[in-house]
Amino acid sequence: MKNTVSTLIKQKQSGDKITMLTAYDYSTAKMQDECGINCILVGDSLGMVMLGYENTLPVTMEDMIHHTKAVARGAKNAFIVTDMPFMSYQTGVYDAVKNAGRLIKEGNANAVKIEGGIEVCEHIKAITNASIPVVAHLGMTPQSVNVFGGFKVQGKELERAEQIVEDAINIEKAGACGVVLECVPAELAEVITKKLSIPTIGIGGGAGCDGQVLVYQDMLGMFSDFTPKFAKKFENVGEIMKSGFKKYIDETKSGTFPSSEHIFKIDNEIISKIKEKYQTED
Ligand code: KIV
Repeated sequence: MKNTVSTLIKQKQSGDKITMLTAYDYSTAKMQDECGINCILVGDSLGMVMLGYENTLPVTMEDMIHHTKAVARGAKNAFIVTDMPFMSYQTGVYDAVKNAGRLIKEGNANAVKIEGGIEVCEHIKAITNASIPVVAHLGMTPQSVNVFGGFKVQGKELERAEQIVEDAINIEKAGACGVVLECVPAELAEVITKKLSIPTIGIGGGAGCDGQVLVYQDMLGMFSDFTPKFAKKFENVGEIMKSGFKKYIDETKSGTFPSSEHIFKIDNEIISKIKEKYQTED
């Protein structure tokens, strides 16, 4: 059964934790879906983990649509949320609605995610009025990396903590169907979770959130450029992949791959005729 906004609200109400992971391609989305993940986030983190950029700022609408289409083909049940990339909504409400529409219509996402609080409430209202569910994103919002001066924890000081709580209250009023809380103190995330009736999804926000999200390459040990404190490594797939790549290289070089079980046969009579015609020596 396809998960929807109401599935997630019910999960918050019943205390059933919401599971979300990022995915950017068909095969990964299919595997996560088969494992029973509730939501898949096609995050603009794809700029870093898939495309090798230093941050998420260069990611385009075309990148997001391309990867969302692939994920949507793989995920039958998971609720698919796609990030609106940098400058696809900050330029105005009209752009926000138009680009959100493209992610739904061309990408087949079920909802969009935008970063920011009070300053994007008009955008949230307008996108929601266009029948597109919006997930908000507060705390350490990666598209503001140049304002924060790096990927830093947010909300440790009273003023900033109050601002994040106010942002959360306002994005809910504006119609957001959920909110990602990134890199905020666990107790602050818990206050917000209790205050809101929409689900909170934490990433570096502690166990008090209604759900958790991680970048899949981080939790599988596949991305070594930068490992945030919150990114628990559930498996070391990166090492397994490297071991596979090395074995392939060694066996190809030594000639032990491909062996008889990986080749196709031809009738002796046919190959003899071919050899007679094209090959002077055996
Ligand atoms: O882009 C992304 O993957 C995200 C998560 C870090 C929440 O926004």
